[in-house]
Amino acid sequence: MLKIHLKIQRFNPEKDSKPWWGEYDLEAEETDRVLEALHNVKWYQDGTLALRRSCAHGICGSDAMRINGRNALACKVLVKEAGPKITVQPMLGLTVIKDLIVDMEPFFESYRKVMPYLVNDEDPGERERLQSPEERARFEDTTKCILCAACTTSCPSFWATSDYVGPAAIVQAHRFIYDSRDKAGAERLEIMADKTGVWRCRTAFNCVEACPRGIEVTRAINEVKLAVTMGRVP
Ligand code: FES
Repeated sequence: MLKIHLKIQRFNPEKDSKPWWGEYDLEAEETDRVLEALHNVKWYQDGTLALRRSCAHGICGSDAMRINGRNALACKVLVKEAGPKITVQPMLGLTVIKDLIVDMEPFFESYRKVMPYLVNDEDPGERERLQSPEERARFEDTTKCILCAACTTSCPSFWATSDYVGPAAIVQAHRFIYDSRDKAGAERLEIMADKTGVWRCRTAFNCVEACPRGIEVTRAINEVKLAVTMGRVP
């Protein structure tokens, strides 16, 4: 068993005037992830600790948080890699509702803004709309996004200007702009060209480091910048 010391940023707006650190000592298995350590605290030491999680397998994206100063999914970080002293904080740039839970609504507002769905009113005919493997490959990487917000909330431009749609929304825009079946590319490029859009990216690369799915976020953003500059998908 590993002995670990967990320092968790706590804040209950109904009781606390400012955030404070909760400190917890516990034992963990070699194979435990930070999520299990947080469960240990919540279930056996302090039931008031608030966090989001669902799948526990890196799919739902609900447990993104700052672990030792870097955004990650708690269910994907092994305690033995993060420990023996682990600091856990809520993601930056979004309002804390309680402890590790942030208000995701501004994030999803930006997501909705880029029209994250296929637009094509043409009759698909007798068969589905086919694509070549090369056409599919153009947006393969950006289909992997799980909307955890780890990229957007690690971005200094997003911290500085909260009206910036952020990397995750641009990744979603890329997924449809580069889809040969989609017909709303011009509209999305206009949204991306807005002052809240793609030009707010300063290529800090924090998003690439934060993405738990290994998406080449900055590359996708640069491809959207290129399409905006050309007025079409190159
Ligand atoms: S709990 Fe679903 S991604 Fe971690």
